[in-house]
Amino acid sequence: MKILALQGSPRKKGNTNRVLDEMIKGAEDNGHEIKKYFLNSLDISPCNGCERCAKGKDCQFEDDGAEIINQLADGASVILASPIYFGQMTAQAKTIVDRFYSIFNNPDKKFDGKAAMIFTHAFPDKDIYQPYIKLTEAQPFLNNTELEYIETLEVAGVKEIGDADNAEDDLKKAYDIGQKF
Ligand SMILES: Cc1cc2nc3c(=O)[nH]c(=O)nc-3n(C[C@H](O)[C@H](O)[C@H](O)COP(=O)(O)O)c2cc1C
Repeated sequence: MKILALQGSPRKKGNTNRVLDEMIKGAEDNGHEIKKYFLNSLDISPCNGCERCAKGKDCQFEDDGAEIINQLADGASVILASPIYFGQMTAQAKTIVDRFYSIFNNPDKKFDGKAAMIFTHAFPDKDIYQPYIKLTEAQPFLNNTELEYIETLEVAGVKEIGDADNAEDDLKKAYDIGQKF
């Protein structure tokens, strides 16, 4: 299967990227084709709520976001990876998530693949972000897509670039989740 790996950190070689690459390795070792997108360098307009999609029309934006969305509408799977910024995913990640609406809201389009998420954050405690992570699993993934949801990997206590190199258990978990695609 084709898997889109959406890297939502603006730090190209940061912790999210490190963990994502491990998940990609797991999926590649299972024979899947991965297309990785560094969202921060792409031209992705935020959804402007025009509701064209509700009428069965393509999204008005013919940008890099459309390239991602068109593949999802063609059955690609997805890994959404983001650091936690002020308790939520980054703006770069949320911008493409909002564009999922152009599939969800279009009567002629649907998702058809698998999904997983990665969140990294500096705070060492995992409990406080669980409500946000559960909500994000529900919306968009469980409630608004037909994607089969695999799992979320939360990597806590990583702040500086390179910290994730020491998160051996989480790197192993990332690989294992990649193998579930
Ligand atoms: C603007 C900003 C907001 C952040 N907010 C949080 C936060 O709310 N909770 C937290 O634990 N870490 C927070 N962090 C730390 C990052 O989540 C952490 O450094 C993460 O490892 C960055 O991932 P990256 O290396 O992939 O960019 C924040 C960092 C930045 C730059």
